Amino acid sequence: MTILKIARMGHPVLARRADPVADPTAPEIRRLAEDMIETMIDANGAGLAAPQVHVPLRLVVFQAPGERADPGLAEDERFDHTAPLTILANPEIEVLSEVREAGWEGCLSVPGLRGLVARPAHIRYTGLTLDGARLTRVARGFHARVVQHEFDHLDGMLYPQRMEDLTRLIFESEARHHLRREDGA
Ligand code: NI
Repeated sequence: MTILKIARMGHPVLARRADPVADPTAPEIRRLAEDMIETMIDANGAGLAAPQVHVPLRLVVFQAPGERADPGLAEDERFDHTAPLTILANPEIEVLSEVREAGWEGCLSVPGLRGLVARPAHIRYTGLTLDGARLTRVARGFHARVVQHEFDHLDGMLYPQRMEDLTRLIFESEARHHLRREDGA
C-alpha cells in the first residue's frame, strides 16, 4: 500500500464534479481504496474522498469513531453516530430531517483550519461496496457530518463553501485556546 499525496484547496481536482465508478469490484478500485485508507490513517483524518488524492472518481472512505458520540444518549440512539471503516462508491444522500446542527469541521485538503458548519443532523445514505453490494445506513451526529463532508468532495465542494459565517473559520492552533465547550470543540 502507498501513502498518497493529498490535494489542497485551490487544486482544480477539488473543485470539479467527480465521475461515477464504472465497476466498484475492479482490482484498481480496491487498490485505490486501500491506499486512501492508509493515507487517511496516516494523516489522522475521519474520511477521505478520491478527488483529495487527485483521482476524480466518486469513491470515499471514512470512519466515525465512537468516542466522539454523545455519551448522554440512550443506547438505541447511540449506534448511528458511529460508523466502522467504510468504503463506498457512487454514494447518495437523502436528508431525513430539515433540522440542522452546527459542528466544527476540518479537512485534510484545508490543513490547519477549522470551521463551524451547519448540516442536516439526520440522513440516510447509500452506495456500493467493493463487492458490488448496495449498502444503506441511517446516520446522525458526527457520523452524518463526516458522510456529508466526504460526499461534498465528490461534487467539488469544500466545507468553507458551506459556511454561513466566515468569522467561524479559524486556525486549529487558535481553536485549542479559544473555543468554548458549547461550540463542540
Ligand atoms: Ni475534507
